[in-house]
Amino acid sequence: MGSPRFLLLLISVFVLLSVSSTSPALIPELFTQCLEENSPNPIPFSTSFFTPQNSSFISVLESTAQNLRYLMPSLTKPEFIFTPLEDSHVQVAVVCAKKLKIHMRIRSGGHDYEGLSYVSLIEKPFMIIDLAKLRDIQVDIANNTAWVQAGATNGEVYYRISEKSPVHGFPAGVCTTLGMAGHVTGGGYGATHRKYGLSADNVIDARIVDAQGNILDRHAMGEDLFWAIRGGGGGSFGIILWWQIKLVRVPPTVTVFTVTKTLEQNGNKIVHKWQQVAPNIDDNLTILIQTRVTNSSTQGMRTITNSYIGLYLGRADMLLQLMKQNFPELGLTKKDCLETSWIKSMLYMAGFPNTTSPEVLLHVTPAFPKGFFKAKSDFIRQVIPETALDSIWKRFMQDDAAIMVWVPYGGMMSRISESTTPFPHRNGTLFLSQYIVRWFDGEKSTKKNMNWIRRFYDSMTPYVSSFPREAYVNYRDLDLGINQFNKTSFLRSGTLGFKYFKDNFIRLVKVKSKVDSSNFFRHEQSILPLQVGI
Ligand SMILES: Cc1cc2nc3c(=O)[nH]c(=O)nc-3n(C[C@H](O)[C@H](O)[C@H](O)COP(=O)(O)OP(=O)(O)OC[C@H]3O[C@@H](n4cnc5c(N)ncnc54)[C@H](O)[C@@H]3O)c2cc1C
Ligand SMILES: *[C@@H]1O[C@H](CO)[C@@H](O)[C@H](O)[C@H]1NC(C)=O
Ligand SMILES: *[C@@H]1O[C@H](CO)[C@@H](O)[C@H](O)[C@H]1NC(C)=O
Ligand SMILES: *[C@@H]1O[C@H](CO)[C@@H](O)[C@H](O)[C@H]1NC(C)=O
Ligand SMILES: *[C@@H]1O[C@H](CO)[C@@H](O)[C@H](O)[C@H]1NC(C)=O
Ligand SMILES: *[C@@H]1O[C@H](CO)[C@@H](O)[C@H](O)[C@H]1NC(C)=O
Ligand SMILES: *[C@@H]1O[C@H](CO)[C@@H](O)[C@H](O)[C@H]1NC(C)=O
Ligand SMILES: *[C@@H]1O[C@H](CO)[C@@H](O)[C@H](O)[C@H]1NC(C)=O
Repeated sequence: MGSPRFLLLLISVFVLLSVSSTSPALIPELFTQCLEENSPNPIPFSTSFFTPQNSSFISVLESTAQNLRYLMPSLTKPEFIFTPLEDSHVQVAVVCAKKLKIHMRIRSGGHDYEGLSYVSLIEKPFMIIDLAKLRDIQVDIANNTAWVQAGATNGEVYYRISEKSPVHGFPAGVCTTLGMAGHVTGGGYGATHRKYGLSADNVIDARIVDAQGNILDRHAMGEDLFWAIRGGGGGSFGIILWWQIKLVRVPPTVTVFTVTKTLEQNGNKIVHKWQQVAPNIDDNLTILIQTRVTNSSTQGMRTITNSYIGLYLGRADMLLQLMKQNFPELGLTKKDCLETSWIKSMLYMAGFPNTTSPEVLLHVTPAFPKGFFKAKSDFIRQVIPETALDSIWKRFMQDDAAIMVWVPYGGMMSRISESTTPFPHRNGTLFLSQYIVRWFDGEKSTKKNMNWIRRFYDSMTPYVSSFPREAYVNYRDLDLGINQFNKTSFLRSGTLGFKYFKDNFIRLVKVKSKVDSSNFFRHEQSILPLQVGI
């Protein structure tokens, strides 16, 4: 025990610890001091700096956080939350966090599935920089573009575009409360990606704060880094401040519909046919499926209900013709169709009642209440046979809290090559499937639901992509791997990067090594540089 070698080891560990961390109690004070010294403009701390001593701390922490699983009291809370009011505040925050060696989490819309923007499971102390107050949107219809700030939601973007033009839009998420920074940097799909591609495919410029605290636009950051931020996932390369997006043309009238089929209504055959039709039909049409367990009121038994929720970029008569030719099994009728404007179709797809006015998009009101959830994603490249669907339904019915969403690809998604952006799930992908469990009675049901979804995911193995089994980075799933961290180094988590990015992962590591070799921007699943010491 008392050998000199052991003493030496103890000393070196002690030295490492003492240079790498400041006493947590002092951090908020040192941080605000540092901000004051380095900021070109005064920072109003009384409205932008929150420590656990402030009564508003918890409400600010919880404000946009979506997954109640990561708000449990047992989880470590941040030392403080800083909500910058202008771009320069973000720059100095990076400089000061670096100087004080405090780990930084970046939050824009708070929708990270595993809470990575507001919780750290691997290191403490940590702080949150929350960009919720940076939400300006400047739409330039004449130029078909808009500048959008990090904390604006996709719903606000939809609203601000529609305010200026009924024939312009932007392809982004179905849910309307997503933060534009996090959403777009992971890809971003919705109800029109088959026609226009992902949000990330429609970004033409950006402003970011890099690991040195510089603000860079596309020209200054160079094409490698500009490539990495359009699909490489949040929290690895820098802090997105702004996107410049290209607006797309939408028709003045679009058509939405929902058709619901239980298993007893030929459900199995229709899903089988959907797999063949939905990825190959006219790009103007996207039909999602939402699968749930329901109690059939007529027969008093549990069944599976599939809701086919569609958006057609055109009028109902054209849609009905298209469906009659390609997908008569669904039995879509004129009565099911609602002709409306693009902006209202976005509300419809998000699940708002049809009496909701578009202004709801300005209040960051989600269509559904917050809950506890766990989700996982897969990409399907081969039609799942009918017999296999039978056994999938059986396993699905084991948990009443289960939801599955099937999202068709094809169209524009197939015409963009795998390496154009880091998002690799392109040609050959029939659809994305997402499994979700949502519950509201807290810890009580956590174990049951987590066990179910993991078993269900395992049971899907024969039907989904393999080598790698692909996953969508915006549907973050910590089961796929966690970068290990100790006081001397980070350890890359196995094949995680290839699941999210396929071979693009290699280029992402190269970019990371070039722009953030000291690994300042990091979290449980961030891209690590080649040399991962700290
Ligand atoms: C209810 C719900 C519905 C969803 N629907 C869709 C959908 O229809 N389509 C779809 O594609 N996705 C969807 N998603 C997933 C969504 O796209 C991702 O969760 C996305 O990362 C959310 O971005 P955010 O800014 O809201 O999240 P945050 O939690 O703030 O951030 C997500 C990640 O990005 C990082 N990050 C945040 N801000 C920045 C920044 N300024 N610069 C750099 N990194 C940053 C964070 O550190 C974190 O790692 C949905 C998620 C939820 C919870
Ligand atoms: C937080 O508390 C400090 C110290 O009491 C106070 O100076 C500051 O104004 C408070 N900030 C907020 C946002 O309430
Ligand atoms: C229009 O957009 C282009 C491309 O981003 C840009 O170079 C140009 O300056 C913009 N024009 C105006 C008038 O803003
Ligand atoms: C979609 O609709 C537009 C406008 O009606 C039409 O020009 C186009 O041919 C349709 N199909 C595709 C694949 O875009
Ligand atoms: C079905 O009914 C049972 C008994 O009333 C209930 O416990 C269960 O939650 C219901 N399931 C769904 C999916 O509604
Ligand atoms: C809105 O929905 C209700 C109930 O589904 C329906 O009766 C009504 O006709 C709808 N209104 C419009 C304008 O579509
Ligand atoms: C997509 O892949 C299929 C099958 O490999 C091929 O025939 C087709 O040309 C590809 N499409 C595009 C746009 O690359
Ligand atoms: C940290 O992890 C690395 C890589 O696994 C290992 O070599 C090293 O010994 C670990 N250090 C400590 C202090 O645990």
